[in-house]
Order: sequence, then C-alpha cells, then structure tokens
Amino acid sequence: MEQSNNRTIKILFIGDIVGRPGRNACKRLMPDLVKEHQVDFVIANGENLAAGNGMTQETYREMYEAGIDLFTSGNHIWNNKDIIEHLDDSTTHVVRPMNYPESVPGKGFEILEKNGKKLIVSNLMGRVFMPDDLADPFSMAKNFAEEHSDFPIIIDFHAEASSEKIALGRYLDGQVAAVIGTHTHVQTADETIFPNGSGFITDVGMVGPIDSVLGVEKEIIIEKFLTQLPVSHKVASGEVNFSGVIITLDPEKKITLSISRINKIVKLSE
Ligand SMILES: [Fe+2]
Ligand SMILES: [Fe+2]
Repeated sequence: MEQSNNRTIKILFIGDIVGRPGRNACKRLMPDLVKEHQVDFVIANGENLAAGNGMTQETYREMYEAGIDLFTSGNHIWNNKDIIEHLDDSTTHVVRPMNYPESVPGKGFEILEKNGKKLIVSNLMGRVFMPDDLADPFSMAKNFAEEHSDFPIIIDFHAEASSEKIALGRYLDGQVAAVIGTHTHVQTADETIFPNGSGFITDVGMVGPIDSVLGVEKEIIIEKFLTQLPVSHKVASGEVNFSGVIITLDPEKKITLSISRINKIVKLSE
C-alpha cells in the first residue's frame, strides 16, 4: 500500500461509466483502489451513467454514495431530463462542459475540498467531429486558468480528436495541474507529464462492457453503420473494462507529480 502524504493530492479519475454494468464494476473496484492508492478525491465522467444515456438523480445518488465525489460530463449529459433540472443545485456535484452557452443549465467547474486539500475540476468539450457548436475551449481554458491560479486545476477535455486534446494539453502546460481526455471510451497509452508539469492522457477510457462498441450492444451499432438509420442504444452485458488514472498532484506548485493508468477486467455475476 502507498503511504498517505499530506503534501500531495491523490486523485482517482475514472473514464465514462456506461450504464449498470459500469456502475457495478465501479462499486466493485473503487473501495480497494481508494485504499491502495490513498486516494483523496474520486472523479468520474458520468455522461453515460444511466442506461448509457445521460444521468438520473437516482444513478447520480447511487454513485455519489458509493464514493464518487464529482462527475464530469459531455455531449450525452443532455439525453436525460431527470438530471438537467438539478444541474444548478449546489448538492448535485456534476459539471458540464464550460463552453456551452451561458444560458444552458449547469456549472462548468466546481471546487472540491476535503481534509484541507483543495482543487478545481472543470469540463470542456472539443469542437472537432463533435455534435455541438461551442465556444473556443482553448481561449476559455486559458482565461479560466489565469483567473483561478490559486488552485490546482483538473480539466476533463471531452473531445474526439487526439490532435485537439494533445494541443489543448500542451497549450495549458504549466497552467493547469492536468488535462484528462474523455469521450472516445478507448483508453490511450500515452499518459505523460508535459515539460512544465501538467499531467495528460489523450483518453482515460470507459467503464463499460467489453463485448460491445463503446459499451453499446455491438449489433445495434453495426446495423447503424450498415443502414445509416438512427437507432436506439442499449448497453451491452458481460465482462467490463474498468479504465482510469491515478494522479498525484503537488498542491503548492499545482502540477502533476505522477500519472498512471488503470485498466482492469471485471467479471460481474449478473
Ligand atoms: Fe461517453
Ligand atoms: Fe461523449
């Protein structure tokens, strides 16, 4: 077991949790991971938390009580009305991409505080091959980092293109503690610390069924590509891939000291 250290902040950042299999795999693995790595904060992308489609109050509550301190999100957070009307509540620890128009419900960042340790978690969405037309994430992130330079900042950059993600990470190098990519549901093996100290991974991956296309039943997605017709998604079943990263931050310098990937296979009984 790693030594607890009051001079660092340890974060378990979990990739997109897909539906019930994803939630159950998290509940199975999180307690041991938190203990083993002496984790201070658990952050997860929750845009696919409820049946792979947005989030409900019930699924939010279930996973918050299981130990997830804060959810980031992305384009799919708008798929379920149940959570949208609660996104502005101070008791709903969910952030949505900051570069949506200001009139859109929800908050683009939240300050997390526990045991005297503090950090900001923010969420931005990319603009390459993404469904919504949003404000420039580069200038928004730069301004945000300058305005909040008193805190270590973690950004979930929810984006499709690896070039856009790497460019944002390098653009913010030294100004934020880490840029963690999400959205593709496929973990990349490029976790690194950039020259000025920002931790980075192009995509942290998902927590969802392996025998699938990005967590969805494979037949449905193959049919969609064959016919080009709209389809209803259904979360797949079977063994689950649990993907995440453990990040150690220096709270004084507000940079990453280490970043390591977690990629495990979880066998669920149901
Ligand atoms: Fe997702
Ligand atoms: Fe997404």
